[in-house]
Amino acid sequence: MLSIRAALSRASVPRAFSRPLSTAVKPIAIAFDIDGVLKHGEHVLPEAHRAIQMLEGKNPWNRRVPYIFVTNGGGQSEDVRAQRLSKDLGVTVDPRQVVLSHTVMQSLVGSYGDKPVLMLGGPDLPPGSSRAVLEGYGFKHVYTAHDLHAYAPPSWPYADPKPEQEAALRRVDFSQVNFAAILVFHDSREWGRDIQLAVDILRSRDGIFGTVLTNEELKQRPPIPVFFSHADLLWGNEHNVARLGQRAFRIALEAVFNRVTDNAPFEAITFGKPENVTYEYAAGLLKNFAGSDPTVWMIGDNPASDIHGANDYGWSSALVRTGVFRDVEGPPAHKPTFIADNVEQAISEILKREWS
Ligand code: G3P
Ligand code: MG
Repeated sequence: MLSIRAALSRASVPRAFSRPLSTAVKPIAIAFDIDGVLKHGEHVLPEAHRAIQMLEGKNPWNRRVPYIFVTNGGGQSEDVRAQRLSKDLGVTVDPRQVVLSHTVMQSLVGSYGDKPVLMLGGPDLPPGSSRAVLEGYGFKHVYTAHDLHAYAPPSWPYADPKPEQEAALRRVDFSQVNFAAILVFHDSREWGRDIQLAVDILRSRDGIFGTVLTNEELKQRPPIPVFFSHADLLWGNEHNVARLGQRAFRIALEAVFNRVTDNAPFEAITFGKPENVTYEYAAGLLKNFAGSDPTVWMIGDNPASDIHGANDYGWSSALVRTGVFRDVEGPPAHKPTFIADNVEQAISEILKREWS
């Protein structure tokens, strides 16, 4: 079996896709964060439309600039998200311009595509839609917290299995299923249940739900890995205070696991921003899109993910004031190339710096 690290390095980049771009000026490209930069929850920021139009050629140089979206959001396929962005922004967005937090989880298919995995998190509605995304990537045996809860209702005694999930459940004999990994696909909708079931699988004998190893046994064995689709502690939506993200869930899961098992090994691997593997994948897309190696600018609202990752990967960056980052909290922990009020101002400044 491929090691996890080797599998990650195999994240495949789609083949070149083309759009006419001028070669007369220095090639640049933009990687947009979405939440807190282009959108607040469901609401599209008005300056986002103007920023996109500038990249589509409405700028003093009349040049088009390639751009992609690199978000720690997800919960749907790249195709669905591209359709949604097209509607939001009034331009045609190709699915290959979309990097979701879980997009790079496709690199795990070589190792886990044929093995049972427990998927946690993600939108519950429509029922089965989150599982369908992982199956679309090539994972053949994806089970969910709903499946386990319906199989053994006392495993989470504080709520009943949800009737609306009934039609989408996979009813199998879980005493015969050896879970090989846990994939946290998107933010957990029910932390308590998901922490309970994850701890159950991590403590189990050979990944079988309903079995349990002693703490001494757990310390002797390689742990079942937990893959997180991103590591945002906080993220920005229309609420006026930043919301807890997937990293908060991870902290809670890890803390409970450590207490229950007296610190048995916990193996966590993270995708999304600021992980290098995600920037590498995004850079491959932009290179194909631009037809050469462009100077890439990341525009983000979250210093800990967008800017941190850009700095580590050697991209320039603009930090905007429309999301997680707020001046009143002091200078950002990860320094961007510059700070702008919003995405429109950021694009305008980038074009000036690069082309004037
Ligand atoms: O769950 C966090 C996510 O919604 C953040 O999205 O676009 O700011 O990376 P984004
Ligand atoms: Mg953001």
